[in-house]
Amino acid sequence: GLNILRTGGNWLKSPRPYHPFTGDIKMKILVSDPLSEEGLAMLQKHFDVDVITGLSESELSAKIVNYDALVIRSGTQVTRKVIESTSNLKIIGRAGVGIDNVDVEAATEKGIIVTNAPEGNMLSAAEHTIAMMMSLARNIPQANASMKAGKWERKNFMGVEVNGKVLGVIGLGRIGTEVARRAQGLNMTIMGYDPYISKEKAQELGIKLATVKEIAENADFITVHTPLTKETRNILDTEEFNVMKKTARVINCARGGIISEEALAEALKSGRITGAALDVFINEPPKDSPLLECDNLIMTPHLGASTEEAQVNVAITIAEEVTSVLNGGTAKNA
Ligand code: NAD
Ligand code: MLT
Repeated sequence: GLNILRTGGNWLKSPRPYHPFTGDIKMKILVSDPLSEEGLAMLQKHFDVDVITGLSESELSAKIVNYDALVIRSGTQVTRKVIESTSNLKIIGRAGVGIDNVDVEAATEKGIIVTNAPEGNMLSAAEHTIAMMMSLARNIPQANASMKAGKWERKNFMGVEVNGKVLGVIGLGRIGTEVARRAQGLNMTIMGYDPYISKEKAQELGIKLATVKEIAENADFITVHTPLTKETRNILDTEEFNVMKKTARVINCARGGIISEEALAEALKSGRITGAALDVFINEPPKDSPLLECDNLIMTPHLGASTEEAQVNVAITIAEEVTSVLNGGTAKNA
């Protein structure tokens, strides 16, 4: 009997019996990327939870058949093939912001809810951006590597102050505005570009709105905080690098490809700009990329959200979302 109920498509069309008190027939959740203990404990209270990471597309497609919910971070690719292999799945919960690793269209066609945790890691991502900016200003990663190699090279690592400098922020959403606020605390002037925010809002934040070209021409540091879309792909490209100050330094802690990797490698190698910091890449990890040869580029392996606090926050949000939907309720962030 259970099997008949289990194969009936989405939750609303064919509810399965669920007894939260007796726990007789527990729904099943697959967690396919690492999730914090706090989030797991919340889910385990009511559901059968399996944590299986590192699955290939075909392994995940085979496994997913029996599950009611899938919880992921950025590692799992939830492709159309995976979604078409589901028969009970009601919700995909992304413990983080970006849902670019989920085929949302395919999920929607099957009536599967896709939800995320848009707030839990924004301060961590903003702090990582500031850490990247200070590392660029003072050559900390290169100086550290040089000392570890037994050297004492003080002349090579002359830096700059950020005090009084112009920071260009492209994308003034949750993370972009938090970066701007922190940079204002360092006495930087903020120029911002975001076609979707009002002049009043920018004014309230003390940000001077400008075009991408004006930012490219005037900023000492430029940081991008948009999603990756048709409009934002290569928003900083050869044309923009060509009008930047020679002393400009650029940062991407958002999504690989918002800054053209090819144009950036060229601008760094030719000395057209002074430095760059990347946390995200078109391919993660970046293999055979011209970027890897640039000494004036510093990199971190997608660590923006990798703090204890952020991972607990996003896991709790996703556990709440999944619990609500599996109990017949709604998802706040869908
Ligand atoms: P958000 O949705 O709050 O803000 C994005 C902003 O970009 C919005 O204000 C939007 O109006 C703006 N925008 C959209 N199209 C634009 C365009 N063409 N030009 C300029 N601005 C445009 O998102 P958020 O939470 O601030 O996240 C920003 C980015 O950071 C996302 O790509 C997210 O996936 C990424 N992120 C990365 C990490 C990490 O680990 N490195 C962690 C969290 C988030
Ligand atoms: C996100 O979109 O939240 C980031 O990519 C961080 C992550 O979950 O790794």
